[in-house]
Amino acid sequence: IPVDPFDLVVIGGTGDLARRKILPALYRRFCAGQIPDDAQIIGAARSEMDDAGYRDFVGAALDEFAGAAGCDDRARFLSIIGYVTLDARGDGGWAALAGRLEPGRVQAFYFSVGPSLFMTIAERLQAHGMAGPDTRIVVEKPFGRDLASARALNADLAKYFDEGQIYRIDHYLGKETVQNLMAIRFGNMLFEPLWNSQYVDHIQITVAETVGVEGRGEYYERAGAMRDMVQNHLMQLLCLIAMEPPSKFDPDAVRDEKLKVIRALDPVTPDDVVRGQYLADGDRPGFREHVGNAESTTESFIALKVRISNWRWAGTPIYLRTGKRLRARTSEIDVVFKDTPHSIFGPEAGRHRNILTIRLQPNEGIDLGVTIKEPGPGGMRLVDVPLDMTFAQALGPDAKDVPDAYERLIMDVIRGNQTLFMRGDEVEAAWAWTDPIIAGWEEAGKDPIPYDTGSAGPEEALALMHRDGRRWREIR
Ligand code: BG6
Repeated sequence: IPVDPFDLVVIGGTGDLARRKILPALYRRFCAGQIPDDAQIIGAARSEMDDAGYRDFVGAALDEFAGAAGCDDRARFLSIIGYVTLDARGDGGWAALAGRLEPGRVQAFYFSVGPSLFMTIAERLQAHGMAGPDTRIVVEKPFGRDLASARALNADLAKYFDEGQIYRIDHYLGKETVQNLMAIRFGNMLFEPLWNSQYVDHIQITVAETVGVEGRGEYYERAGAMRDMVQNHLMQLLCLIAMEPPSKFDPDAVRDEKLKVIRALDPVTPDDVVRGQYLADGDRPGFREHVGNAESTTESFIALKVRISNWRWAGTPIYLRTGKRLRARTSEIDVVFKDTPHSIFGPEAGRHRNILTIRLQPNEGIDLGVTIKEPGPGGMRLVDVPLDMTFAQALGPDAKDVPDAYERLIMDVIRGNQTLFMRGDEVEAAWAWTDPIIAGWEEAGKDPIPYDTGSAGPEEALALMHRDGRRWREIR
């Protein structure tokens, strides 16, 4: 269903995010017939360029990043693209931008720039009459680097915009399989009755990457895996897996429940944290070379044991880990159920547990480990087999049209649906939990432990679970 005509301004329209994600996402939605021909997409950045120059720029970005997706009429898409040269810190270009917008329709401004510019951009929008009640602004992570800076950003934006106008992106929420977590939990009778500490021994959340920090060394050296991945993406996964059922699938109902999870998180002591740094591998530089600091103490890997102090989860730990240059690119959540209270088959049948694995990427799907009888005459021996399903197989051709995270999220901005965006209080609560963990390892003077490319992170991360009599699922 096409949306109503809108104006979308991408501030930072010549930047990396615009090229790689935003413009290809808009193109794919256009090809899917969702963006009408009289919508306007305006790139705005410092470079001197006219509309035609920017259309060439966008065409090149699509060649590079839009993949196989597309439609025959690329020219039609390019015809809705325009460009304004804009000085984000000064006054140049703002009046021209205002002149390009069509009154009476949704006007969205995507702040595809560093957070240090958010405030000046908000001020300029206001000064040039572009901060009306129908304006929407989209901001990317990192939303601050600690509680104080996140609060300051929220307060700054609140001077010009209501919470209902601010769309804070966490692209993990736009991933189809992440939304599926809610469908699996709240669309089935099967799981929810068992979804608590009485039946669940523990939960593991793994987001493993094979890439290093490559060209993002400068940013990453100041962030590290905790700020880059845990405070946002893993936190969102944790919330969706642990939250109470919202009364309806509505932005505030969902976000209220997520917030309660974050607020129920226990502080994490340095003993429950393992940080690592990848080593050089043949010709591939190590982390310290990538970030240009031979003494860097920033982590490219982190594993944590997290506890949620509430009725549902007290006593069921959640183990989180994420890292770069690991064995495989894989994101999954494993819900490990408890042993049966009594084995009627005796000790020789062994210990068997049901594990529900939700694969977020790649090979999206779910796998439920079920215990059955080992075939053969040798008595009642048990074996675990997978009840495995990939969504692509199960859904057939319908699975092909799955929009990527940015496609989904940008269209949600235009439609005015904030369910998959982080609310200001949620971001602040996540930082309030994160800050003392970082302070804890800084005070304890615990440096990251080196690990090999292609491993599962430092050995100590395995020990984090072994000492509890548990083990990580393999990274495959
Ligand atoms: C980004 C992080 O938010 O997410 C990156 O800044 C990380 O460091 C990326 O690589 C992972 O996203 P995805 O979609 O590839 O899992």
